[in-house]
Amino acid sequence: MRKFILAANWKMNLTAAEAQDWLNHFTSINPNKNHVEFRLYATSVLLSDLVRTNVLHIGSQNVHPSDSGAYTGEVSIPQLKSIGVQSVLIGHSERRNDFHESANFIKEKVDASCNHSFPFILCCGEDLKTRENGTHLSFIRTQLTSGLSGLENNHVPLLTIAYEPIWAIGTGQTATTAEVTEVHTFIRAVLLEFFGESGTSIPILYGGSVNSSNAASIFACPQVNGGLIGGASLNASNFLELASSL
Ligand code: PGA
Repeated sequence: MRKFILAANWKMNLTAAEAQDWLNHFTSINPNKNHVEFRLYATSVLLSDLVRTNVLHIGSQNVHPSDSGAYTGEVSIPQLKSIGVQSVLIGHSERRNDFHESANFIKEKVDASCNHSFPFILCCGEDLKTRENGTHLSFIRTQLTSGLSGLENNHVPLLTIAYEPIWAIGTGQTATTAEVTEVHTFIRAVLLEFFGESGTSIPILYGGSVNSSNAASIFACPQVNGGLIGGASLNASNFLELASSL
């Protein structure tokens, strides 16, 4: 049976009490899907509590490449590891665009994660203008090349890719299965160029307005290894409903 990752990206949502309710709900439903790895990417302030409940894989939405220092408001990999956080999102379009994170800074985060053997999801995806120009594949190649250059085959087990077209994030406008298939096939080819045969084992997730009406058709694409879910992950039953098609 194919393995899937279903990852909730809560973004800057939910209080500690709401997060606890979500977890109670999640555990009470028991999806019974052994081939699905459920993950939860939460804001830093919630991470300790979430890890302590030991219910599912807990990841951070952000990280700083340095181990420590004068970086007010930031969080480091050693700090995340010290409380049992299991992975991190790197290069989400909201970090790239709203917080002006450059390709170089994202690369530093990738390298820091590799140096600490800390698993990460590297996000990529084009904006609407790039899609309309028809240059989305070369845009994605540039993002991947800049993020992955210098990585070795021993880093492959740390790596997951998420393809998230910016025009589909939070807009209700999902990519068609043909669009998803085109880009995921392309990303796989780039990963094979980088890592040879071991590139076949790197999961490629789709994200961007996945919901209960479109999840089944997106997850049925053979090139899709799971989803990164924003809006539809804020309610535990909605999130788990997405797994019903897996
Ligand atoms: P969305 O967000 O599901 O609300 O579109 C996805 C994401 O940004 O990871």
